Amino acid sequence: MKKIAVLTSGGDAPGMNAAIRAVVRTSVFHDMEVVGVFQGYQGLIDGDFKRLHVRSVAKILGRGGTILKSARCQEFLSPEGRKRAHVNLVKAGVDGLVVIGGNGTFKGAMKLSRETGFPVVGLPGTIDNDLCGSDCTIGFDTAINTVIDAVDKIRDTADSHNRLFFVEVMGRDSGFIALKAGIATGAVAVMTPELGIGIDDLVAVLQAGEQSNKTSSIVLVAEGDPNGGAYEIAKKVKEKTQRYETRITVLGHLQRGGAPTCSDRVLASRLGVAAVEALRSGHSEVMAGIVNDRVALTSLETAIETKSTINDDEVRIARILSI
Ligand code: F6P
Repeated sequence: MKKIAVLTSGGDAPGMNAAIRAVVRTSVFHDMEVVGVFQGYQGLIDGDFKRLHVRSVAKILGRGGTILKSARCQEFLSPEGRKRAHVNLVKAGVDGLVVIGGNGTFKGAMKLSRETGFPVVGLPGTIDNDLCGSDCTIGFDTAINTVIDAVDKIRDTADSHNRLFFVEVMGRDSGFIALKAGIATGAVAVMTPELGIGIDDLVAVLQAGEQSNKTSSIVLVAEGDPNGGAYEIAKKVKEKTQRYETRITVLGHLQRGGAPTCSDRVLASRLGVAAVEALRSGHSEVMAGIVNDRVALTSLETAIETKSTINDDEVRIARILSI
């Protein structure tokens, strides 16, 4: 393997730049050339490639976002789009591809590799932490710390005014951010797609808190909760009881930005090295992750299709500690 390409795709995540840097530097370390592909899969289809050198990735380790830009590309969903991408990779003399992204990114990578035999290795880059095969995804730790910082501030107002706040966090299909941040901020309840807490259960929890002299409360809501987002849930609670003075905050995209934490920088660096070394040793259609503090390769198919499960022990302690 003499030349590899790297791209970021899907929602950006803090630490993607650290991963790009690690991919570039590891390749150069092993006397390989690297090209960066801009705008994710769209850049593969358009041939938007640029050679990256050791110094092209200087001073990006601590920067949020992605220097390669990112996109969700419709054209790559079709076999024709993937064919064009493959033609461009071959034309540019690329021997292997590293893709950094989430579920959708890996689906595209797997199809490209299956249809053309082109070697592809994935790195889990998403704040949602919803990929099987890595204890943490790149960006998750930074995102939960951002949420903690925001909720701690909201707590000051909730407390000063004896209010009930509904804070909505990201997680279209999963509640990892909501659960972890809920424990870390002492939320009275956490609403996620996996937990299936109904409005009546929530009202019962709020009333129990009131009976034990709670004067303010914060409910963390994952955006994908089946009861609806924070606005919807607050409305449904109001329909059941008028007792609380409620406010709603949707944290939105501020969760995706910012300088990566130490954990995310180190995770991204380890995985960037692992991806290049996996390609060099002939692996393809795998995701490099960290499991029990060791690099682990998981097939892209498993990473995509195995539903990552929320930690039961965390659910239990969240309930115990929120009384
Ligand atoms: O996939 C990560 C994620 O942050 C989801 O939790 C969220 O629903 C989505 O991205 C938002 O994506 P966009 O930036 O396209 O609105």
